[in-house]
Amino acid sequence: MHNAAMDALGLNWRYMAFDVKPDELRAAMNGARAMRFAGLNLTVPHKLLALDMVDALDDSARIWGAVNTVRFESRLNGQWAPIDQCPQEDSEPIRSVGFNTDADAVIRSIREDLTFELHGSNVLLLGAGGAGRVAALKLAAEGVAQLFLVNRTTSKAEAIAREIRERFPLVSATVGYPAGKVDLALNATSLGLKPNDPLPWDEGRFAIDQAAAAYDMVYRPAETPFLQSARQAGARTANGLGMLLYQGAAAFELWTGRPAPVDVMLRALQEAIYG
Ligand code: ATR
Repeated sequence: MHNAAMDALGLNWRYMAFDVKPDELRAAMNGARAMRFAGLNLTVPHKLLALDMVDALDDSARIWGAVNTVRFESRLNGQWAPIDQCPQEDSEPIRSVGFNTDADAVIRSIREDLTFELHGSNVLLLGAGGAGRVAALKLAAEGVAQLFLVNRTTSKAEAIAREIRERFPLVSATVGYPAGKVDLALNATSLGLKPNDPLPWDEGRFAIDQAAAAYDMVYRPAETPFLQSARQAGARTANGLGMLLYQGAAAFELWTGRPAPVDVMLRALQEAIYG
């Protein structure tokens, strides 16, 4: 999606993938800086390791405790600026700045791909791993009214509920299934990735027709059993491809300073993932 976006804007840039061992991440990041890379994306487990390796952290990375995007900056008229906008002067230092574009992407995808209004809504969130925790806190920050948290390991859901009650006292965060209807059921577990995975909820305690809309962070397969059953029950559905798209679009804008051609990026993603 990034190469398609660069081509669409006529940028003489390339986005490439590198496998880097965790204990060589620092060396790899220093190498990228020495080669005047515009920036980097990082994935698991590097998102956490990079917190201590960048020269500066944007609030987005500090708040969410993870770096998925790095931008290299140098000095332009005494101010830090994206490196490609700066003249190449040997005397000027280069710094790395860590950002997180994942957290906003979840919310943007739910809002745009499901046309869902989060404020005041009731949400069942399945999963309390890394992605589930960020989603829960972002949903609370967006002003959902009620959040029902369910996770195989209950203690993790309880820890998130406590954190929400402390940070967002207006949001009702409880652990367990809702008795009645919810506006949205959101899967943040990894169930659905593999063909024989069970549904991500307990069918004895929750029926999919209790949800008016369903969002699955899994995007491969395009329609998980969860989304299929939700669609058949009449719910609006969307998968997590939008999360991947929007975190990429935000990173693209951080590096290039130009609006991301989101349609071009989406088409490239769909082609690469679904053929
Ligand atoms: P991510 O960064 O994608 O959130 P993660 O932190 O490993 O990855 O979280 C995976 C989520 O899927 C967790 O909610 C996990 O439940 P646990 O916290 O109990 O481990 C959930 N999950 C994974 N496999 C599962 C399974 N077989 N049944 C139920 N939940 C599962």
